[in-house]
Parts: sequence; C-alpha cells; structure tokens
Amino acid sequence: MLRDHDAFSSTPSHRLPQGNAPSVIPIDFDQPEHTAYRDAVVEAMRPHRLRAAGPFIVETVSAAVDAFYRRGGGEVRRGLSIQIPFRVLTGVLGISRETVEALLALSDPPAGSQTDGQHHSADQRIRALLDAEIAAHRSRPAPAGDYVDWLLTERVDAGLLTEAEAVDILLTLAVAGFRTTMNSISTLVYLLASDQRLQERLRADPSQSAYFVEEMLRLRSPAQNIARRTRCPVHIGGVEIPADERVVVSVAAANRDPAEYAAGTEFDPSRPARGHLAFGWGIHQCAGAPLARAELKALLESLCSYPPFRLEGDVEFGHIKEGIHFGPSSMHVRFAAERVDKL
Ligand code: HEM
Repeated sequence: MLRDHDAFSSTPSHRLPQGNAPSVIPIDFDQPEHTAYRDAVVEAMRPHRLRAAGPFIVETVSAAVDAFYRRGGGEVRRGLSIQIPFRVLTGVLGISRETVEALLALSDPPAGSQTDGQHHSADQRIRALLDAEIAAHRSRPAPAGDYVDWLLTERVDAGLLTEAEAVDILLTLAVAGFRTTMNSISTLVYLLASDQRLQERLRADPSQSAYFVEEMLRLRSPAQNIARRTRCPVHIGGVEIPADERVVVSVAAANRDPAEYAAGTEFDPSRPARGHLAFGWGIHQCAGAPLARAELKALLESLCSYPPFRLEGDVEFGHIKEGIHFGPSSMHVRFAAERVDKL
C-alpha cells in the first residue's frame, strides 16, 4: 500500500483523525508536486550536510543528557526528550540558536494540554519565527552555505519555489521530526530504565547502540499508523475497498508480523530489525531518518557514560496522539549514583 501511490493518495484529508489542517509539504502531496518538494527537503539531509553537523549533533545530545543527569534525572519528557530535536536543527539547517530556543518555548506545554485554538496560534507563531529566520538569512552580507541559504538561492531565487513554500519546508523539517524524535528518546530511556539487564548489556558494549535504536523503532514505533486515501477501488487481503476511502497501515502490526519477525513482540537488539516500517516506505519514506538515527545513537552512547538509571513511580503512556504518535507521556527516572570520573 505504501509503495502503490497510484492507488493510495496522500493528498489532504487522508489523515486520521480527519481535520482541516493546511497541507504540509511534502507529506500531503502526490506526484508530481511531491517530487519537486521532496527534492528540496532531502537536500537538508544529504550525507555531506549530516557529516558536517555530526559533531554538533553529538555535542547537543550530550549536553542535554549531562544537564538531565546533573539535575538528578527526573521527568524524562520535559527534562530530556523535548530538549534535543529542535536544538540539533541549528547545526543541521543553519537556523539560529535564538529561533530554536523560541521554537522550544512554544512547544513546551505539557502534552495534550493545548486546545485546537492554542495549537493553531502556536503554528502561526512558529511560522512567524521561520519568516524572520529567512529575513535574517537574506540580510546577511554573504551566504554561509547552510541549508537555509541553499533553499533561498537554489530554489526560491531560481524561481522553483516561492518564499512561502520555503517557509513551509522549514516548518515541516522543524515539526515533522519533533514529536517523533521526542517520543523515540523517551521510549529508549523507558526500555533501558525498566530492564536493568538490557541496560547492562548496552553498557557492556555501547557500540551496539544502533541496533538498540533500530529494535526500538520496530517494536515501539513512534509513528504507529500511516494513513492514505484510495484513488480507485482496491483489493487487499481479499477485501475490496471502494475509491475515496481513508485507509490506514498499522505500522505497529506490520512491525510485529510473525512472518517477518520471530518472537516479534519481544525486544531483541540482536535481530536484524532493518526493513521495519517505522519510517514508512515508498516515496514518502521519512526524509529525516538519517538525522533521527544519528540523534538516537548519540543519546544511547552518551547515556552509557553515566551511572545506571531506573524508573521511579508509574509510567503514563496516554493515548495515541493524532492517531499516530506513541511514547511515554510522563515518566521519572533516577540515576544510581554520582558519576565521579567526569565531574
Ligand atoms: C524517530 C523519529 C521519526 C520517525 C519515527 C518518523 C516517521 C515518519 C514516517 C512514518 C513518515 C512517513 C509518513 C507517510 O508516509 O505519510 C515520515 C515522513 C517524513 N518525516 Fe519523519 N520521522 C522521524 C523523524 C524525522 C525527522 C528528525 C525529520 C526532519 C527533521 C523528519 C521529517 C520527515 C519528512 C519531511 C517526512 C515527509 C517525507 C515525504 O512525504 O516525502 N522525520 N516520518
């Protein structure tokens, strides 16, 4: 279904729950519009850009872990997970530290506490911040060669995108990776904090971090569903679905399919978990996957240099937000002892 974009459309109103949200570039577009938008988006994640941003990503993640540890641990979502996804964007996209901190302040209210109206107004304010960011790039005496510069010179000035579309693209890059990465961080901490043997296994060999990340993505996928709309009548698994119906791929179910994964409901970082659908599949497959993987690997490697940590009290998972997002909404951890080597 995710590969067959002739039959399954991503144009607006395919989402669950159905809303009147404006179309997001490139997620809510079909070919051929999608192709041009996607080309502009994936430029941000080209290997040379991520390589250059690598040390910044590691530093940003390590600083967040260190601050969390120095506070003695505590509530993970606000104390750690939310602190990382926007901040890495400074090094990856070239947007300023001030803009990133303002984005963070706008996104900080506890999960689920915003009404639709407040959500809309936060979106407007994020857009205004990104408008200002573009104006600041425009007013520089010379481009610095970052992604925002590339977007303005190679796409807007070349007449391939409007400036409003460039703002939309920055908005997508900021927002699409926010809740998913935040939940991934919380979920990794949850898995390790709730299973000391698993944590010991990683500490014994932090070079296994990438496998832990991949297995978390498979087993506890941060985006649980991917929705589409049928363009024509389709047959799936012996069921006929008429045209113009909304359909959902359950990522959670596919990633535990017994035909693909033996003991698929168990966390086993030694299994070859690649091939999972946590980042989707086909033309809309997550454009930010290499960045997310780099952040999450850096997180685990950094956590391994601090004392063991464990859960304190109950963990709240809440419901799956917007029909998609899954992860602990509230959870406390405490570190076992002071780290004496680095303090
Ligand atoms: C672990 C973290 C992440 C997960 C689980 C995730 C998951 C997904 C999924 C499932 C899709 C496909 C949606 C569909 O087919 O309708 C997607 C698309 C996308 N993601 Fe991610 N994502 C993550 C992180 C990020 C990050 C860090 C960024 C960028 C900074 C990002 C940017 C995007 C974009 C731009 C698309 C749209 C691609 C297209 O339509 O061509 N994501 N993501």
